[in-house]
Amino acid sequence: MADWYLQVNQTSPLQGEALLGGAKNAVLVIMASLLLTRGTSRLKRVPVSSDVLHMITLLRSLGAHVSFDQKNHILEVDTTFVDKWCVSRDIMQKMRASILVMGPLLARFSKADIALPGGCVIGARPIDYHLKNFQKMGVVIQQQGEYLRVHANRLCARDLVLDYPSVGATENLMMAAVCTSGTTTIINAALEPELLDLIEVLQKMGAVITIHAPATIEIKGVAELKPIEHEIVADRLEAGVLLLTAAITGGSINLPDARADHLDVFLLKLQEMGHQITVGSDKRGIRFTATQTPQAVSFKTAPYPGFPTDLQAPMMALQCVAQGTSCIEETVFENRLLHVRELQKMGAQIDLKGNKAIITGVEELYGAHVIATDIRASCALVLAGMVAKGSTVMTGIHHWLRGYERLEQKLATLGVEIMLRQGDWSHIRTYQKEIISHIS
Ligand code: EPZ
Repeated sequence: MADWYLQVNQTSPLQGEALLGGAKNAVLVIMASLLLTRGTSRLKRVPVSSDVLHMITLLRSLGAHVSFDQKNHILEVDTTFVDKWCVSRDIMQKMRASILVMGPLLARFSKADIALPGGCVIGARPIDYHLKNFQKMGVVIQQQGEYLRVHANRLCARDLVLDYPSVGATENLMMAAVCTSGTTTIINAALEPELLDLIEVLQKMGAVITIHAPATIEIKGVAELKPIEHEIVADRLEAGVLLLTAAITGGSINLPDARADHLDVFLLKLQEMGHQITVGSDKRGIRFTATQTPQAVSFKTAPYPGFPTDLQAPMMALQCVAQGTSCIEETVFENRLLHVRELQKMGAQIDLKGNKAIITGVEELYGAHVIATDIRASCALVLAGMVAKGSTVMTGIHHWLRGYERLEQKLATLGVEIMLRQGDWSHIRTYQKEIISHIS
């Protein structure tokens, strides 16, 4: 992807309607959960993204038969002949979410060989919460070079307490417990909407799972789970980016299949900025109209139902051109503010103090060559490019392609001047602030 880039030009107010793809952070773990069954399952609203294609490669490497009707977003996975439990290093390095097959493989084979997932730019991404709780369940863990070899003579139901409501650890432990006889509880569990979609799938398979307030998941082990059919939950993070596209261009958008109940705090912050939001009955469907005088708002990220860390960067782009000062605190990942430097290249006024960013809204941003540092940062830079003077060129777009299905096409259909291009971009005139100052 070295010579691919996204070009975004200053865009007039967006008007339109869009449907959402299935959530990346639901479909990946649900695909992994199919290893708990023997037979053919069918998933609908599966996005055609590079992460989904990587997970297909992983499942096939274990012996699953997978067919993907990309046109209709339908994935069929036959796990009858899955007879391997080793995940290769190159698959692990392509996608950290591969760690989510550990729980299902332990449940199916009582063992798994998994290459250690690398960290990434947003943080070390350790898996200590996963491993120490697997050990409590009787799993023996040996590290051999870059491989983790795990096995259990018998998985044991336990009361597990998470230091932090980790999404991946909750998902992995839950999948290891669904066929473990006895009652396993996960205390201080994560309850993100994508994880609740996984619980719905596991319950369809025959798992006995109950959620107790405030955040305890109780799993009663069953002997066997059966294949299922399921429509992946609509992607609240894509919904967030589409709403922000209308917000930053001063337009309006209708998202008929968005789940407003998955975005409460995020929607509250948009309303505090002065934007108009109406929500359909039973919180399905969101209509949005931007204010022409957006006021800056402050927030800090937190586990669900707090402000989602995956919308922190895109929401920061909006604050860069709002009126007033915003303080954004990232509390989930230790290094998820790398997009600040890129936004500053475009003329944004941002001061960094540890895990806090203080943003002072400016009249205008300037198109520049910017580099995406993670999936969600790529959205922030595209959003900023929509209002920046001139053209913005974004490289590092493998991140963009991982998170969504051709989001640039969806945005272009809505009227955003955005195109995915290949080749030398240096001819494209980007406007840096200093260039403007020389010209004027
Ligand atoms: C999931 O990552 C998502 N990924 C992330 O989305 C999302 O940002 C994150 O949850 C939080 O909502 C998928 O679902 C594939 P965590 P995950 O375990 O499970 C620390 C995106 O952009 N931690 O809840 O890896 C960890 O370092 C991605 O789509 C440990 O210290 O997140 C982080 O600081 C980015 N030890 C915090 O907990 C552990 O064993 C939250 O991580 C596990 C996590």
